[in-house]
Amino acid sequence: MSTTATATDSTTSEEVTGEAARRRTFAVISHPDAGKSTLTEALALHAAAITSAGAVHGKGERRGVTSDWMAMEQDRGISITSAALRIDYGDCVLNLLDTPGHADFSEDTYRVLSAVDCAIMLLDSAKGLEPQTLKLFEVCRARNMPVITFVNKWDRPGREPLELLDEIEQRIGLRPTPMNWPVGIAGDFRGLIDRADGSYTKLTRTPGGATRAREERVDPEQAAQAEGAEWTQAQEEIDLLGEIEAHFDEASFLAGESSPVLFGAALPNFGVSQLLEALVNLAPAPEDPVDADGAVRPVGAPFSGQVFKMQANMDKAHRDRMAFLRIASGRFERGMVLTHANTGKPFATKYTQAVFGSERSTIETAYPGDVIALVNAAALSVGDTLYAGKKVHFPPIPSFAPEHFAVARAKDAGRYKQFQRGIAQLDAEGVVQVLSSDVRGEQAPVLAAVGPLQFDVVAHRMSEEFRAPIELTHLDYSLARRTDAGSAPTAHALSGAEVLTRRADGELLVLVHNKYRLRVIKRDNPDLVLEPLLAGGVE
Ligand code: G4P
Repeated sequence: MSTTATATDSTTSEEVTGEAARRRTFAVISHPDAGKSTLTEALALHAAAITSAGAVHGKGERRGVTSDWMAMEQDRGISITSAALRIDYGDCVLNLLDTPGHADFSEDTYRVLSAVDCAIMLLDSAKGLEPQTLKLFEVCRARNMPVITFVNKWDRPGREPLELLDEIEQRIGLRPTPMNWPVGIAGDFRGLIDRADGSYTKLTRTPGGATRAREERVDPEQAAQAEGAEWTQAQEEIDLLGEIEAHFDEASFLAGESSPVLFGAALPNFGVSQLLEALVNLAPAPEDPVDADGAVRPVGAPFSGQVFKMQANMDKAHRDRMAFLRIASGRFERGMVLTHANTGKPFATKYTQAVFGSERSTIETAYPGDVIALVNAAALSVGDTLYAGKKVHFPPIPSFAPEHFAVARAKDAGRYKQFQRGIAQLDAEGVVQVLSSDVRGEQAPVLAAVGPLQFDVVAHRMSEEFRAPIELTHLDYSLARRTDAGSAPTAHALSGAEVLTRRADGELLVLVHNKYRLRVIKRDNPDLVLEPLLAGGVE
């Protein structure tokens, strides 16, 4: 009996290890309008998950997906904010996790990055590194995450390719190693030279870009004739890259120190297949996860996973709360009863779903690197571990530096108990960070958010779910810095900054109006500890 069980276990473990090796779990980090939605569609198109780029959803609806989920909820009675897109490509399974942008940029956006193994840094060829890209990159950097760079919109006028590479190296210290090189300046995109083998792919526009662009392999000698001066220039630049040794280097890529760069244009589908190939060939498969005590749990071990995102009240009628979990090890089978590491209580997974774009479908099995959505997950919070077999507890997902602050008060003093319960619940779920201040007192906690939409979510849930409507007063701070009790001077000495205790983990935070004030405070209080909240400093 025990021999059979062991044999079955090792077969399962082998199967799971094989499945894990086929997975690439990644996210796109970019600034709004760089082309994330367009690239997502193009990747799916090329991978033949859908038949036409237009079939995912029209532009209008796409905007809806990435904007206010509450409005969507009102319209449809259900939120369709997508969490993960599964793209089958050759023998690989690509899991593209959504990083909400635009107005719904929030702590969730950062947390998604704790659930991926690689990021695509998407740049607009005319704009280079933009603020939101930089913020998201800092999160990747703090985790030493491998980053593949895709320079998009090469079909439109933009900057010089070498200048863009220089910006990446100078501003964020990431060493760019181009995998391909464009022939023709931005706005006159002729084709791509593969740096590894010198082959040339000529690009031909297709009207509307709704179908796969024609990418034609052309003999380099013929191409040299046909493209003339543009070809010569591209070759000179490639020679220069050789001289500065900008070659792909696996070790530094995996350590998050260098980044393979690809050029392309997502809208007309140029250079997208090269990006898919880079994901398959370069991006890492899920690694053996490490628990809070530093112990390694092989991907082939029994099931374990961590919740990286919660979404509540998606369906008003059912008050369901959904937890998005990334599988760290083992095979998931619907119906499994897991253990919730934080409470030791069982968690049934009868209604697990996979989330594909705007559709939810029931999922039967899933493997490391996959994302599953657990419904009726009121007992779960961001960062929680679920497991089967041997107990495991993953380290918490760090909280990120908030930039928006507001004081919350119960509109109806008679509902204070519900107010307290609601605020505590939303804090535990990670919807906002809740700070308490001796000066303001318990009745007026300070809510701290990465994106302002988080406040709307709090206000909405406080009145709908906890029946304790709140009044929010926005505060004029934009920075939080960690300090320690020993060095923290009085609020007076900090010239208008506020000293607050972060309730959840006891951190003592100083809130500051802006960078200029921060410099003044540092100058006037040289001994004061003022550290960014995340190692690497997401500002
Ligand atoms: P986002 O999700 O990052 O916010 O960007 P999105 O894909 O919505 O793209 C932003 C705009 O950039 C869109 O134009 C889109 O068509 C365009 N775009 C994306 N990739 C490329 C590309 O490779 N080349 C060119 N030329 N354009 C690209 P829009 O003006 O917002 O919409 P539309 O009026 O063009 O439909």
